[in-house]
Amino acid sequence: MDPLFRWAGSKKKLLSSIKDRFPKEFNRYHEPFCGSACLFFDVLPKNAVLSDMNEELMLAYRQIKEVPGLVYDHLEAFEVNKERYYEVRSLRIDNLSLEARAARFIYLNRLCFNGVYRTNKAGLFNVPMGTKTGKMPTRDVIEKYSLALKNAVLLNGDFGGILPGVNRGDLVYLDPPYSKPEGRMRGEYGPNSFHFDDIDRLITTLEEIDRKKAYFILSYSDCEIIRSALKQKWNVENISVKRHVAGFSAHRRIVEELIVSNFSH
Ligand SMILES: C[S@@+](CC[C@H](N)C(=O)[O-])C[C@H]1O[C@@H](n2cnc3c(N)ncnc32)[C@H](O)[C@@H]1O
Repeated sequence: MDPLFRWAGSKKKLLSSIKDRFPKEFNRYHEPFCGSACLFFDVLPKNAVLSDMNEELMLAYRQIKEVPGLVYDHLEAFEVNKERYYEVRSLRIDNLSLEARAARFIYLNRLCFNGVYRTNKAGLFNVPMGTKTGKMPTRDVIEKYSLALKNAVLLNGDFGGILPGVNRGDLVYLDPPYSKPEGRMRGEYGPNSFHFDDIDRLITTLEEIDRKKAYFILSYSDCEIIRSALKQKWNVENISVKRHVAGFSAHRRIVEELIVSNFSH
């Protein structure tokens, strides 16, 4: 199935290239930078752990999984128009029930500019309403996603937190935000988002997954630093993808992406 959320950096276009590289069999599936989790929703593994540092995203998944009907009741109450969008955006999450927070997240995700999740310094969502927006999901759709999430443990936090749960024969798919040394500091996905300085920590995490005899697949943009850090150890392949740069269709171009894995397929 398609992912429920629109998400910057979604791997929809790389889906088959990544799926083709999955091991034939694996135990538990882990996706520590899950975002819209398009791989998870496509493959629907029987036993999975999804996590992301975006608290509202993971709260929405949890509420959809546990109480889809209540989430839908709140969602239905938010009319789709510009005035209401800015009202819903300005709601303080601390004053909302968990179901209402999840409904607010779904609503804003469907209507905001390009499905981008950006907050201001105070952590408040500040993306304007988009022009090409999605329709609100129906009750049936929310229930379908609830079922799909039944086999997934949903965690919120930094990618490093998954390591204790990874065991021999598991598969970890990692899709960190692309970050360059000269890139803006931690803007795209929130204040503590993965940044170039975290690459050493990412490589240590890959080494640890490998030491546990679990499989990993990493997607990253093609850059020399990551290539030279990884080439000696693991399989590094590059593929070309047509991408929107900075979310604007006028800035579409072909970019090279890396797929790194610690096993042959
Ligand atoms: C490129 S997106 C993942 C896209 C996803 N594969 C999809 O198909 O939608 C990167 C994700 O990493 C999350 N993220 C950023 N820094 C993180 C960190 N330090 N630990 C865990 N997740 C992080 C962001 O919130 C974002 O959802």
